[in-house]
Amino acid sequence: MFNQLTDTQFKKFRDLIYKESGMHFSDINRPILESRLKARLKKAELEDIEEYYRIISTDDKEMKVLLDAVTTNLTSFFRNKIHFQGFETGVLSAIRNTRKDKRIRVWSAGCSTGEEPYSLAMVLKDKLPDWKIEIIASDISFNVLMKAREGFYPTAKITGIPPNYLQRFTNQVKDGYVMKDEIKKMITFDYHNLKNVPVYKNFDVVFCRNVIIYFDAAAQEHVVNTIYNTMNPDSYFFIGHSESLFGMNTKFEFMKIGETCLYKKK
Ligand SMILES: C[S@@+](CC[C@H](N)C(=O)[O-])C[C@H]1O[C@@H](n2cnc3c(N)ncnc32)[C@H](O)[C@@H]1O
Repeated sequence: MFNQLTDTQFKKFRDLIYKESGMHFSDINRPILESRLKARLKKAELEDIEEYYRIISTDDKEMKVLLDAVTTNLTSFFRNKIHFQGFETGVLSAIRNTRKDKRIRVWSAGCSTGEEPYSLAMVLKDKLPDWKIEIIASDISFNVLMKAREGFYPTAKITGIPPNYLQRFTNQVKDGYVMKDEIKKMITFDYHNLKNVPVYKNFDVVFCRNVIIYFDAAAQEHVVNTIYNTMNPDSYFFIGHSESLFGMNTKFEFMKIGETCLYKKK
């Protein structure tokens, strides 16, 4: 097993991961990449890092496993509450007034273990009870998608869910809570690499929060403009509170609803 990657090895892995996913490992993040590679090699019972590089260069399946292994999946229910305030008050009331067909399509891009799309589903079920609601939730990690589909969350993880939503939309089980079927069936969980053009379209709202933070500027711009093309006119785009489209060549327009910062496709 390698101790540390050589500079050449680091560059090779970094560049390949970037080319495949947009995720960029800077020099500062080098130890993270090294430790995740070590973990993967151990699990795959491989010793030789050069051999592993040859494998991922030719084996699409193992490349996907590696991309999964290097993702950061931190998330929580109603993460960044201020976004959900703006979503509930400004965005949904605007959509309610304009979409006469009572349909709404939402995309949680980079959904991790599902807390974000389930938060959106609970709000939408509550606020638009008689609407046709479709939520697509996608990620590049098969592991998180599997957990998301299960919809089980240990008690320690459900703290952000408002008590009335917890009571209405989940079933208490041993050691935690499971999302009720009426909530689960609102969401289609799907594998999608944001580096690629999606088959999805016609979104009224897209949440892509805390995902592009791991990309460099060129990959961020590519992903943001690809997402733009999947959205309906008069739609809304949320990114993480520490992310910004400032300086990016994009047609999204910045807007504020109360304290909530978001973007609009006119
Ligand atoms: C930190 S989590 C954010 C989860 C959620 N959006 C939130 O804000 O709580 C970032 C997620 O983006 C996913 N991701 C990273 N690169 C991706 C890519 N190229 N395509 C799709 N998903 C990606 C990761 O697997 C991870 O689950």
